[in-house]
Amino acid sequence: MVTLAQTEPAALSLRGISKSFAAPDDPLTRRLALIDISLSLAPGELVALIGPSGCGKSTLLRLIAGLDTPDSGELTIGSEPITAPSAERGLVFQDPNLFPWLTVRRNIEAGLVARGLLREKRAEVDDFMRLVRLETFANAYPHHLSGGMAQRAALARALINHPKVLLLDEPLGALDAFTRMQMQDEVLRLWQARRTTMLLVTHDIDEAIYMSDRIMIMTPTPGRIERKIDIDLSRPRDRSSEAFLRLRSNILEHLHFAGTAPA
Ligand SMILES: Nc1ncnc2c1ncn2[C@@H]1O[C@H](COP(=O)(O)OP(=O)(O)OP(=O)(O)O)[C@@H](O)[C@H]1O
Ligand SMILES: [Mg+2]
Repeated sequence: MVTLAQTEPAALSLRGISKSFAAPDDPLTRRLALIDISLSLAPGELVALIGPSGCGKSTLLRLIAGLDTPDSGELTIGSEPITAPSAERGLVFQDPNLFPWLTVRRNIEAGLVARGLLREKRAEVDDFMRLVRLETFANAYPHHLSGGMAQRAALARALINHPKVLLLDEPLGALDAFTRMQMQDEVLRLWQARRTTMLLVTHDIDEAIYMSDRIMIMTPTPGRIERKIDIDLSRPRDRSSEAFLRLRSNILEHLHFAGTAPA
């Protein structure tokens, strides 16, 4: 049984965020990637962000991670403004990005080593390996792992820092359909065990409905939040229930029209 200390999940709030980049074809012109994004996540809430390629989902996560700064607007975690990267905001990408020369254990420990906390927190490494069911693979190298196992190691590596907010950028996007569904349950189990506030970027409408408390639909050029949908289905959710399929067809229709509407 895993008896890990809980971290207080935090609220995440974005107000009026805009972000532009130099246009690749004309470096003197700036092009808006995000315009007037406002959203708030309650502590412990799981929100999915969906939208077509290029609508600014990763840009938004990078701003929340503190890897980039907005042109205007405010970002806060709890009452603290976001000004730089911090271990309190974990980030997991589509590619698990494990260090191939380190064992699973050493990969999961990496953040603690970087922050000089390994001696103090060594016991937690075993707890987190158990949490993601990789304890028997502690001494294996990343090339011994399946895609789902590698992604579980990446999740443990982020969770070991006790993030107040976990940012997931298409974390299951590279997995086959069956593993992906299993991993959706794994991520939900981790979310329920840790109660971390989570923002999940996905292209998969079913995944967004299956997993999240709320879905934000983004539209491109420039990226903005077009619609917010509460998912009031009890968990575990039935992907073939009438309510599920109704939501799916609503969102599909919305994305279709969002993609074809004149700019
Ligand atoms: N560092 C950068 N320099 C210039 N333009 C950028 C930069 N990062 C993102 N952009 C532009 O911002 C827009 C949004 O990109 P972003 O990667 O956030 O989209 P996305 O929604 O994550 O797409 P995908 O679903 O394909 O991952 C795109 O037009 C992209 O070209
Ligand atoms: Mg992206």
